[in-house]
Amino acid sequence: ARFNVAIVGATGAVGETLLSILAERDFPVADLVLLASARSAGEKVRYGSRELVVQDLETFDPAGIDVALFSAGGSVSKAYAPKFAAAGAVVIDNSSAFRGDADVPLVVSEVNPEAARVRPRGIIANPNCSTMQLMAVLAPIHRSVGIERINIATYQSVSGTGRRALEELGKQTAALLSFQEVESEVYPVQIAFNVIPHGGDFTENGYTTEEMKLVHETRKILGDDGIMVNATVARVPVFYGHSEAVHIETRAKITAAEARALLEQAPGVEVVDSRADGGYPTAVTHASGKDPVYVGRIREDISHPRGLDLWVVADNIRKGAALNAVQLAELVVAERA
Ligand code: A2P
Repeated sequence: ARFNVAIVGATGAVGETLLSILAERDFPVADLVLLASARSAGEKVRYGSRELVVQDLETFDPAGIDVALFSAGGSVSKAYAPKFAAAGAVVIDNSSAFRGDADVPLVVSEVNPEAARVRPRGIIANPNCSTMQLMAVLAPIHRSVGIERINIATYQSVSGTGRRALEELGKQTAALLSFQEVESEVYPVQIAFNVIPHGGDFTENGYTTEEMKLVHETRKILGDDGIMVNATVARVPVFYGHSEAVHIETRAKITAAEARALLEQAPGVEVVDSRADGGYPTAVTHASGKDPVYVGRIREDISHPRGLDLWVVADNIRKGAALNAVQLAELVVAERA
């Protein structure tokens, strides 16, 4: 069987990767509809041998769409995802609009695929990119020995903010290298050659929304509200690939060797951990443009008897967004096969 697929936000950083991953994985597409705002309606995009014309979401009739992949921001999802679901589509939503809702499953394809089957509103939420790569690595450890607390610092690339942020990093870098003034529009301060301890918006408790997503989404995906999470999110001048320094305290002791053995078996995870120069994954050398979640620097925490340290890297646009969304779409169409 083939399915009618809509991509909402098709002209964005995630949208264009959705398109290429559907093609790469040979997803059984019948009709493919590309949707964006009126600003880019009429633009032409290649999909294999087809040429597709971007259509205006506002005037599009969703009747007949089987699977809709949304990646156009939370307000667009809130307004349009229910309409697509009401018209019979299964919506896979990459925004944070529905992630916290009890009747919307939040699914990492390798971690809790069974949750995707129960979707009373016809919506499945795709986790935040930072949570996604963290879960791929931590779920096997949690299932084996239990995780009590996660202390994480992220080093997030600009592509997670969208196409304009990619352009801002490029422009600022070029400007600085030619001794010109820089302007910041997307980020509150200069991102080129800098590190910004800020993702999303500030909340009442002093954490940012990107930090609190790691708390709430981790608990929901692992199905354990007792897990404590302390996060600091930083934006770094990297185009593609989020890195994470992860410190966990487990319920039962796990050695570095045991953790490594467990992660070597984990689906979607690749261990790069040779304890030598360059024997660890980085955003640029490993993750960018690739599917797996990479983990290295696996070691026992010398400051805690049940502590383990890890370094986790993945392409935030691929596994962190578009790839997982397509994997969820594959789960949905497999139900109908
Ligand atoms: P457009 O190109 O028309 O602005 P990114 O995350 O890279 O910034 O991409 C955001 C995506 O969401 C783009 O495809 C953008 O389309 C789309 N988008 C943003 N606002 C709307 C809207 N109000 N209606 C439909 N699509 C939207």
